[in-house]
Amino acid sequence: MSDIQRPVVRPRRLRTTAAMRDLVARTSLRPEQLILPVFVREGASEPTPISSMPGVVQHTRDTLRKAAVEAAEVGLKGIMLFGIPETKDADGSGATDPDGILNVALADVAAEVGDALVVMGDLCLDEFTDHGHCGVLAPDGRVDNDATLARYADMAVVQAEAGAALVGPSGMMDGQVRVIREALDAAGHTDTGILAYSAKYASAFFGPFREAVDSSLEGDRRTYQQDGRRDGREGVREALLDIEEGADIVMVKPALAYLDVLRQVADAAGELGVPVAAYNISGEYAMVEAAAANGWIDREPAILETLTSIRRAGADMILTYWATEAARLLR
Ligand code: PBG
Repeated sequence: MSDIQRPVVRPRRLRTTAAMRDLVARTSLRPEQLILPVFVREGASEPTPISSMPGVVQHTRDTLRKAAVEAAEVGLKGIMLFGIPETKDADGSGATDPDGILNVALADVAAEVGDALVVMGDLCLDEFTDHGHCGVLAPDGRVDNDATLARYADMAVVQAEAGAALVGPSGMMDGQVRVIREALDAAGHTDTGILAYSAKYASAFFGPFREAVDSSLEGDRRTYQQDGRRDGREGVREALLDIEEGADIVMVKPALAYLDVLRQVADAAGELGVPVAAYNISGEYAMVEAAAANGWIDREPAILETLTSIRRAGADMILTYWATEAARLLR
């Protein structure tokens, strides 16, 4: 006994009981910090399961309304809509058609729960283009940044008119936030905000999302989405540019493979008082679901640990396909 080194400092004291652990916990996870991303499919009469995202469906307009009501009931404060059109074309014209699926669904959800939830629209062309890119193509086949900006401006106004409280530009075109802000203001939508997907990385973890939106993309998005081999400073630069251009909230995406970037963006944007979101994306969801389905990890604690890690890295809010379920777990 006497030759044992007895520690003087004992960090374990703060772990002795559940009450003690709760008392010293610093990272909170609350339903109102979670945003539910949802898919709605044009012309659907039944919800369609997405095989790579067990538990997630392509909604009909009707089941989407119900999912939105449920989200509000469990205490979420936000919902982000993605539309899957019946037909696609080179310009993604369904995106700017007021009768297009995303816009009618935004109106449905705004009418149903617009007071309880912040209704958001993904502002990007990839679900609507036959080539699957986030923008329109130049004659040489490259994604044409500036021609795409004009499409985004129109899309923003149509979404605002449909009832979106926040538009979420996710296409990573240079200057997109400024053009969208100007278009919204010129159309009188000064209260419609911008949740900018600011630091968005070309990622293999988007895989299941491609199934979720019936993507027609061949190839990749590496000429517009960021390269993960750059460091967080580029993420910070993108976020600061978006803030300068008028973004109300900035986002980092994906979350898990980019938690270092999230921390840096959270520090830089936080300094300016700008809230930061993170997107816990489709592949991050699928990994946990697949491992849990095999009995390899304990599903519910894994979900809460995942979301807590994203909060701890600095996200004020998290888009997650588990939002409704996690809100119930947190009650
Ligand atoms: C683009 C967009 C994507 C996601 C959200 N918005 C796909 C992409 O950039 O390839 C991915 C979301 C996810 O994987 O959960 N409209």
